[in-house]
Amino acid sequence: MLFFNKLLIHKLKVEFFFKNININYNNGQGVLIKKTIKFLILSLVVISFFSCSKKNFLYQKDKNIQNFLKEKPNYPDIKFVVASDFHYFSPDLGMEGKEFEKYINRDRKMIRESKFILDKFSEIAISLDFDFLIIPGDLTKDGEYKSHREVANYLKKIEKNGKDVYVICGNHDVNNYNAKGYKNSKTYRVKQTGYKQFKKIYSDFGYKESIYSDKHSLSYVVEINRDLWLIALDSCLWQFQSKLNKKSFTNGRINPPTLHWLENILIKSAKKNKKVILFMHHGLLEHFKKNSKYLKEYLVDDYKSLGKMLSFYNVKTVFTGHFHSQDITMEKYKNTIYDIETGSLVTYPSPYRIITINNSIMSIKSKKINSIDGIKDFQIYAKNHTKRSNKLLFQNILNEYPVKKKDVQILSDYLAESLLQHFSGDEKRINFNNYKDLSIFGKFAFFLKKDLPYSWQKDLIPEDNSLKINLITGEVIK
Ligand SMILES: [Fe+2]
Ligand SMILES: [Fe+2]
Repeated sequence: MLFFNKLLIHKLKVEFFFKNININYNNGQGVLIKKTIKFLILSLVVISFFSCSKKNFLYQKDKNIQNFLKEKPNYPDIKFVVASDFHYFSPDLGMEGKEFEKYINRDRKMIRESKFILDKFSEIAISLDFDFLIIPGDLTKDGEYKSHREVANYLKKIEKNGKDVYVICGNHDVNNYNAKGYKNSKTYRVKQTGYKQFKKIYSDFGYKESIYSDKHSLSYVVEINRDLWLIALDSCLWQFQSKLNKKSFTNGRINPPTLHWLENILIKSAKKNKKVILFMHHGLLEHFKKNSKYLKEYLVDDYKSLGKMLSFYNVKTVFTGHFHSQDITMEKYKNTIYDIETGSLVTYPSPYRIITINNSIMSIKSKKINSIDGIKDFQIYAKNHTKRSNKLLFQNILNEYPVKKKDVQILSDYLAESLLQHFSGDEKRINFNNYKDLSIFGKFAFFLKKDLPYSWQKDLIPEDNSLKINLITGEVIK
């Protein structure tokens, strides 16, 4: 395990090295050397992975750890808000022209409206009474420095009104090569945000007040009060993205050095009798039946081992984002653990959550943005936008297969409607009224993949929009 950790740290250092030296990528020799080194490192990592023991965590090896966990203090009474995936895009970076329209038409996110949505949300946050706000990542469209600075200004206003704000990065936020603006029907490069800049911009929103932070990632811990720690866990792969490799990863992972840091934090919290709430960008539990089969990049890699470890240390609730659905699922490992995913402010139904803990009972309620400046019936507007962009996305996928045009229309409409069910939470089964109009080939295509839309229409337990959890027993309160 230690060997694996060291190799990974070494790999990170090599990645940073390549970012900082001036390699001419058109130079064949440079590319060959880089590829050879990468191949050797990757081989060593793979060999060490298969040769190391499956018992990667301290709790699996050290029986004494169990003794720290016997004390079960109550949770303190507290109230907080969760809002996720703002995907804010600074209007100063340009929102017109052919390229922007092309982008908007195939994106499920309401990027053009993101400023007005954040205007409204910050107005609501200022008017509400709560202790702190957590934001599980994807604060910006694609990590533009200017967008991050403007998001921080909104958060500053919320803090000025007596609430604390805590953020963690999402896959779009750091070292994102796609950071760009739109002008005269063209795109242009804009300043990106590196990890040091991210920490600086959000220093007032977690980093400055942290009692512990991880030097291998953007993770940190804050003490909310005497009895409660909040862990912000960085699940993103920004270390492996740079201007040079032009990569952007949707999937997420907790790298071994960070896992080691996290487990030590959990041991400390147990020894000090602190309760823990954790938040991160990627999902910890499957949110629909075929989540790991079709869309595993929305779950953190090796999510089962991480869930088991967190549950061993009595972490009951993990707040996540990323897939843009308002969905809660639970799993019984050693103890019961909940993944409380919050949808995106810029995707239908633009939800956020209000959480209260009273006598160790957590009550979770969903709220929505109902109007923004210039759009009164915002829910109808948002639904149309999200359905239209999802339909287009499915059309593009289906067009790659030999499916008739009419079938593509019918199937993409049904898939888009199914996904809307999952985005809203408390999913209901919908009728496939146009099934009869599909050709025989369309019906066969549907037969092959129907498990995916069906899984978006079937809510996994528990309820998503109004829920009470007993944080001591881990049970849902009916
Ligand atoms: Fe997102
Ligand atoms: Fe994301």
